[in-house]
Amino acid sequence: MKSAKKSSVKVCVGTYCYVMGGSKLNNLKSQLPDDLKDEVYVEASVCLGCDKLGSEPKPPYAEVNGKLMPQATLEKIIAALRADLQN
Ligand code: FES
Repeated sequence: MKSAKKSSVKVCVGTYCYVMGGSKLNNLKSQLPDDLKDEVYVEASVCLGCDKLGSEPKPPYAEVNGKLMPQATLEKIIAALRADLQN
């Protein structure tokens, strides 16, 4: 039985993150494994607050279930989603 709880991912599409690797996270929903596609709500954000993160920001940023993820990659996002869905 599938969980009724949906996870959420915000992907930063701001210029800073986009040029630092965030472009690979475009169309994140279509890159997710089939078993996660229906469980995850994906949205874009123009900035997740990198300007408030101190002197060494680590783009690209994403937010998985409200937790900010620096140096976000598809693999890291999938791992975080799976960990959250198991809890
Ligand atoms: S531009 Fe991506 S977090 Fe600010």
